[in-house]
Amino acid sequence: MDFTGKRVLITGGSRGIGRAAAVAFARAGARVAINFHSNKEAAEEAIKAMPGNGHFAVRADISKPDAVFRMVGAVAEELGGIDILVNNAGVFFPHPVAQSDYAAWQESWSQTIGINLMGAAHTSYCVARQMMGQGMPGKILFVSSRGAFRGEPEHTAYGASKAGMNALAQSLAQELAPYHIFVGAVAPGFVETDMAAHVLDGEGGAAVKAQSPTGRVARPEEIAHCILFLATEGAAYATGCILDVNGASYLR
Ligand SMILES: NC(=O)c1ccc[n+]([C@@H]2O[C@H](COP(=O)([O-])OP(=O)(O)OC[C@H]3O[C@@H](n4cnc5c(N)ncnc54)[C@H](OP(=O)(O)O)[C@@H]3O)[C@@H](O)[C@H]2O)c1
Repeated sequence: MDFTGKRVLITGGSRGIGRAAAVAFARAGARVAINFHSNKEAAEEAIKAMPGNGHFAVRADISKPDAVFRMVGAVAEELGGIDILVNNAGVFFPHPVAQSDYAAWQESWSQTIGINLMGAAHTSYCVARQMMGQGMPGKILFVSSRGAFRGEPEHTAYGASKAGMNALAQSLAQELAPYHIFVGAVAPGFVETDMAAHVLDGEGGAAVKAQSPTGRVARPEEIAHCILFLATEGAAYATGCILDVNGASYLR
């Protein structure tokens, strides 16, 4: 896959799946801006791991609409435009009904929906407007989750945020096609990253791996590969798709 000269923004590009996608895009010739929230060291490490020149990190809490607006403006200026957006940043933490008081429940829902869904919506809006102004084809990709379809017990806000993200992606695919903007999503099952460590390293970890007939969960590079595939020109007619990447652990 060749992305020579393409200008890419990846939210949450400092760790896990976003970092793997950033490295893969850089290896394929793109210039990449990675967004991060609080872990500057990880962002700097990610930049060092990316081949080629001109990559940079930008701090922004994507749950803050003003910060998203500033981030997209700064990235577009530094890169000279944006061709590909990967809405990847997200959070996943437990808030079981039986163990959460009402205040904790509300806080979990506000944070999760604010980052995973509204953050992605606001970033997509700002980047779509940028792409419309450029008058060139663009790609807006989402990193969703199997949980949108299979359910996320004890992480209910997360499952809802990803179901909302799927609907957002599909609506935008229809709305933005006349502007030559492709919109698609990948929906991974569990992936070996910091986010999933509390599940995979816990007592239920072996059972989670056994959900797939491959007997394992995904590596971040495998999700990155599918993200890049959706960003290729040859995949253009797949706009509106939600690509399952879950090792046949959940078939729908
Ligand atoms: N891992 C899985 O099993 C799995 C499965 C299905 C889907 N996914 C989805 O894949 C995406 C990436 O997950 P991951 O496993 O790679 O996660 P991860 O390793 O925990 O990395 C999360 C990334 O998101 C950033 N981030 C978190 N909150 C943010 C905010 N408010 N503003 C901006 N950036 C923020 C983090 O930045 P800092 O480093 O600064 O905190 C980090 O770069 C998520 O959308 C997740 O829901 C993951």
